[in-house]
Amino acid sequence: MVILGIDTSCDDTGIGIVDGRRVLANVVSSQAAIHAPFGGVVPEQASREHLMVIDTLLEQALEEAQLPLEKLEAVAATYGPGLVGTLLIGLSYGKALAWARNLPFFAVHHLEGHIAASVAAGEVFPPFLCLIASGGHTSLFEVKGWWDYRELGRTRDDAAGEAFDKVARLLGLDYPGGPALSVLAEGGDDAAHPLPIPLRKQSGFDFSFSGLKTAVALLLRQQPDIRPADVAASFERVVAESLVTVTVRAAAATGLTDLVVGGGVAANRVLRRRFQLSGLRVHFPPAELTTDNGAMIALAAGLWGGRSAPDHLGIDASPYLPLATIKGAGAS
Ligand code: KG4
Ligand code: ZN
Repeated sequence: MVILGIDTSCDDTGIGIVDGRRVLANVVSSQAAIHAPFGGVVPEQASREHLMVIDTLLEQALEEAQLPLEKLEAVAATYGPGLVGTLLIGLSYGKALAWARNLPFFAVHHLEGHIAASVAAGEVFPPFLCLIASGGHTSLFEVKGWWDYRELGRTRDDAAGEAFDKVARLLGLDYPGGPALSVLAEGGDDAAHPLPIPLRKQSGFDFSFSGLKTAVALLLRQQPDIRPADVAASFERVVAESLVTVTVRAAAATGLTDLVVGGGVAANRVLRRRFQLSGLRVHFPPAELTTDNGAMIALAAGLWGGRSAPDHLGIDASPYLPLATIKGAGAS
């Protein structure tokens, strides 16, 4: 089935086209430069930018896939979680397109899109663990089957990417700070500062990064002459350590040995190296599918499989959306 997928949950406009599990097109328009002067995403501005580029992006996606509009067989769009104003742009656009062309419409949970990106990671099939670490989310899932997920843990405060962005800002780096902080850290000593490992004593699978960010802020205030590269390297090591320790504990508890890592933070080289040493079979989907994009939303809809097409035209945008509320999850 040729499916068009749209994601406008935050500051990237993503449109992708897939045919089954094959990605035919995946175009993303990033708003990072627009929000950079503000140090974070400005929701109203983000909505307007989505609206301005979405038509052109659809044309680009069709061109990349070398398909006319008439060849689309279904449309999918993210309905949550995310910023309500930005969600509404992609969701309304997708619904209108599906309705006008009389195509089935799938409302997709954003995190389910991230999980579905794993089908492009090669030979990985459920059951497996899936860690999503991005600017908006940090959650660990047990993927028992397609459309059968259990969230084992999540961040209690900031997402991992959000912590990278905030600490980068403290170090005077531009938004989004994750990649810049990582480059800075390459020249630093990661053992220079013994920052606290978050939730060190828990036996569960949650994450927490705001205390770590505060510890960095205090360090910078107390030692104004500190080497920024050392701070960056120490912070990066602790974030990676935290993500890997909790995930390895979850693997032991569930007996699962395959892990898929998604979300923007999956690009982090220290985290990748640390996971490669974890003893788990780790799969990283291609970079363009780990950050927010439309193809992953279409892939998620495709995993609906041979079931009858859902009637999702009546589903509204939902900014706070637990994964358990996926429409159709568990249904047959
Ligand atoms: O998944 P994503 O593109 O968008 C969402 O937030 O949903 O993730 C973006 C986040 C940002 O916080 C960014 O700083 C972080 O991922 N990020 C990184 C790296 N590349 C992107 N964090 C650490 N190291 C990186 N190399
Ligand atoms: Zn995301």
